[in-house]
Amino acid sequence: QAQKFEPWIKAHELTAKLYHHVLTQTEQGKEAYRYLQERGFSDEAIVRFQLGFAPDSWEFLSSFLQKRGFNHRDIVDCGLVAERSFDGKLFDRFRGRLMFPLWDKDGRVVGFSGRVLGDGEPKYLNSPESALFNKQELLYAFHYARPKMRKKNEAVLFEGFADVISAYEAGIEYTIAAMGTALSERQAKILRRNVDRVTLCYDSDDAGMNAAYKNAQTLTSAGLNVEIALLPEGYDPDDFIQQVGADRFKNDVLDTSFTFMAFKMRYYRRGKNLQHETERMEYLNQVLDEISHLPRAVERDHYIRQLADEFSLSLDALKQELTQRYKARL
Ligand code: UTP
Ligand code: MN
Ligand code: MN
Ligand code: MN
Ligand code: MN
Repeated sequence: QAQKFEPWIKAHELTAKLYHHVLTQTEQGKEAYRYLQERGFSDEAIVRFQLGFAPDSWEFLSSFLQKRGFNHRDIVDCGLVAERSFDGKLFDRFRGRLMFPLWDKDGRVVGFSGRVLGDGEPKYLNSPESALFNKQELLYAFHYARPKMRKKNEAVLFEGFADVISAYEAGIEYTIAAMGTALSERQAKILRRNVDRVTLCYDSDDAGMNAAYKNAQTLTSAGLNVEIALLPEGYDPDDFIQQVGADRFKNDVLDTSFTFMAFKMRYYRRGKNLQHETERMEYLNQVLDEISHLPRAVERDHYIRQLADEFSLSLDALKQELTQRYKARL
């Protein structure tokens, strides 16, 4: 089985080297290289993450791989190049993009994600899935992060590649990213085999908040302790580290992460005006419902007291609310 994919891996490894060479050693790569410098990525990080540039050409990679003796079928099936439907002619899938190699758990290159320089759609173009590249399974930079996360017994999960790279620049190496906001049970299980705790640190927009809620559930179900680190509105981890700084990221974001329940209280608050009575009642209902699902009495007590304090409510009334919810479920 592994034998069969040998040429696929070879082609990917060679392509990563080629794109990296173009980025770092050629005139064609200058603009992309400057873009990375402007984003604050060091040469060291560019080497470590093997960042590259795919020239804006239809045949740069396809002709290179064919010259290197790879056969037509392999380079199409492994997802590196595409095939024109009406005559089978090969053409490059990634053109004029900043290239991020994607590694499997052992650090072999099995796919790519290519970012447009500046604005354009899609922002990131990913390799198609193949027998080697499975989005549900891949965790970006896992092979780098693994020893660090095992030692710390914790992983930090981000949305994006750039977040992982900036965290590395900040000296935080137990970080990985799924392929965007979707997190599968498979990925949660892989994390569970390596650590007891995952800190989710997603972009502070609606997509990020919703994904944090959903993925915290998936991670909890996989048996992980989950914490959620929140960024100020408008930031993602990479922006925050580059613009505000590494120390504040560690102290004000990672080290002040929230439990899932504390996160939910903030999550339901978003977009509500709690001065407004109807919205305040809706908020209390949502939070009480969540509290009633907490398995431990100590935890329930803790959050009930918090609500009582914040909204000047009696503990008795809140406890009655919980009891009513239990009865309704019987
Ligand atoms: P983001 O849109 O948050 O991108 O998507 P980012 O990581 O902040 O990227 P920069 O800083 O603008 O360069 C997060 C992740 O979602 C996936 C990628 O894995 C990306 O890193 N994604 C995003 C895609 O696969 N395709 C897209 O078009 C956009
Ligand atoms: Mn995002
Ligand atoms: Mn982002
Ligand atoms: Mn970003
Ligand atoms: Mn913590």
